[in-house]
Amino acid sequence: MTLNGKIAFISGGASGIGAATARRFVAEGARVALADLQDDKGNALARELGDAAFYVHLNVTSEDSWRAAVDAAIKRFGGLTTLVNSAGISVPATIEQESLEGFRRTIAINLEGTFLGCKFGVAALKGQKGAAIINVASTLGAKAGAIFVSYSASKGGVRMLTRAVALHCAEQGYDIRVNAILPGAIHTEMVEGYIAAGIAAGGTREAVIEGFASVHPLKRLGRPHEPADAIVFLASDQSSYITGIDLPVDGGYLA
Ligand SMILES: NC(=O)c1ccc[n+]([C@@H]2O[C@H](COP(=O)([O-])OP(=O)(O)OC[C@H]3O[C@@H](n4cnc5c(N)ncnc54)[C@H](O)[C@@H]3O)[C@@H](O)[C@H]2O)c1
Repeated sequence: MTLNGKIAFISGGASGIGAATARRFVAEGARVALADLQDDKGNALARELGDAAFYVHLNVTSEDSWRAAVDAAIKRFGGLTTLVNSAGISVPATIEQESLEGFRRTIAINLEGTFLGCKFGVAALKGQKGAAIINVASTLGAKAGAIFVSYSASKGGVRMLTRAVALHCAEQGYDIRVNAILPGAIHTEMVEGYIAAGIAAGGTREAVIEGFASVHPLKRLGRPHEPADAIVFLASDQSSYITGIDLPVDGGYLA
């Protein structure tokens, strides 16, 4: 198993890519702290995964919440080797539709939340061997979308944040690699929200899904285990010479 001995903290671990990552991590021998706002879903997943998993409440926008959640995970498992920043939101809006309040909310969760995750992650992981931070950015942080003004800005920020933290860890001689993944459209609750919006605008479910699939060269949506598999690789010692990258997991979208 590729993650034997790893102990991971996963923000956004109750749903979608974060939940799929928790399942794959446990299957690969890791222990995981699932952290999210959705306590019922998070607790249910932790129960399903058994002794290797534990759920803790986290609001990624709050420094106090990060401190308490990371402390609880360290208390439970005796330390952390791995941090996955998957918590995020996506509220489609153009520059003419978006409010400053909406922009700030997306930046607070997606970018500041990942900044805090990296900050607490580096503090918790330095001194460990084979440590890794993996940030879930997006293809929309590399190729902008007109109706994703706040989301594209936040995820572009996550890409550069990732590189700056990777360079810092390397310069300090910490054994912490820091990478991002760039998922394309992955069929999770987030994309279900887009599908619902498409149906509300008059499309059929099939036509809306086909619309998302058609812009990806592999002509389908991604499945949550597919970005999770990339995160497993970046968390494992099999990627020991890889730091500061952003890995597309996007069915060829950025090719
Ligand atoms: N699904 C996609 O197509 C896609 C594509 C590219 C990137 N992403 C990114 O992947 C990550 C996971 O998204 P997903 O598709 O699994 O969506 P999801 O909605 O299934 O999961 C997101 C999780 O983040 C949690 N969250 C939101 N705000 C939070 C906060 N303030 N504090 C703590 N947790 C919070 C939610 O409760 C939820 O459990 C996000 O960062 C998203 O931007 C998703």
